[in-house]
Amino acid sequence: MKELSIAELEAKFQDKIDREIKIEPNDWMPDAYRKTLIRQISQHAHSEVVGMLPEGNWITRAPNLRRKAVLLAKVQDEAGHGLYLYSSVETLGADRESTIDDMHAGKAKYSSIFNYPALTWADIGAIGWLVDGAAIMNQVALCRTSYGPYARAMVKICKEESFHQRQGYESLAVLAKGSPEQKAMAQDALNRFWWPALMMFGPSDADSPHSAQSIKWKIKRLSNDELRQNFIDATVPQAELIGLTVPDSNLKWNESRGHYDFSPINWEEFYQVLEGNGPCNRERIEARRKAKENGMWVREAANAFAAKRAMKKTA
Ligand code: 3HC
Repeated sequence: MKELSIAELEAKFQDKIDREIKIEPNDWMPDAYRKTLIRQISQHAHSEVVGMLPEGNWITRAPNLRRKAVLLAKVQDEAGHGLYLYSSVETLGADRESTIDDMHAGKAKYSSIFNYPALTWADIGAIGWLVDGAAIMNQVALCRTSYGPYARAMVKICKEESFHQRQGYESLAVLAKGSPEQKAMAQDALNRFWWPALMMFGPSDADSPHSAQSIKWKIKRLSNDELRQNFIDATVPQAELIGLTVPDSNLKWNESRGHYDFSPINWEEFYQVLEGNGPCNRERIEARRKAKENGMWVREAANAFAAKRAMKKTA
């Protein structure tokens, strides 16, 4: 059989994508598609794992047993999401440990949002409502992403994120209905998390270097700005319902657009956080590095056990 040229393989690949056929690990794919997926999925996995830190810090300080059990379950879910996503990266031929080392060395990113501290109990509600809420907005679209293992991982992840969003909103709603101090604490959490949550969707479309190609390959289904707008449209009425005010004096429903108008985003802050200058960047990376070091003996023991079992089998 005649061997296909790269151009023919690429045309065949794009045709498959256009016909909504999922790309699977053993299928031919352009190198740049593979690299984009490794970059995006590994950074997504890192975000899930680093995302455990601000909330994990509140498990021992949850106000009652129910809240503690819910928070514990949520943080465990995030660890699970990280594991599915690292497995998904491995199907592309990437080495999980190298992707993690890249993050520790500052070569690979994780979501900007996790460089902000969780200062009060209300922040835990705000993280569930806004951070997981923004994550779902992005990830529901990713359930239809063109790479099969990523799309399938996202289905389960979205179900769990949806529980996370609801528990956060419910927790904040309770505070908003509580004493004046509790309501003020809820409002303060919304004030601090609103803008960083909008930044989670990434730079505006005009400044997003990867978007055009990722949309052509159907890795991304909606653009950063479309998702951000959808999030604002869905979240503003939720804030109003519990009596909280979104911290944006220009926020206004625009009848002709069918969307909320909002103030410009402070992109300087976003890029500073990406550069490593957010409030908690150093602390987060240090915590992950320590976790890797402290867990080394477990990996060594597991490898030694696996090697011994393999030897027994061949003996
Ligand atoms: N934080 C950190 N880096 C960001 C970012 C953010 N909020 N938004 C964009 N970037 C980075 C990109 O990774 C890229 O950097 P790189 O070239 O070094 O990899 C650069 O900024 C340019 O941005 P682009 O818009 O061109 O990049 P993408 O096309 O990759 O789009 C994205 C960015 C929308 C975040 C996309 O990668 C994506 O959809 N990723 C999957 C979802 C994800 O990672 N979500 C993390 C949210 S947190 C989470 O899920 C945990 C949950 O428990 C809450």
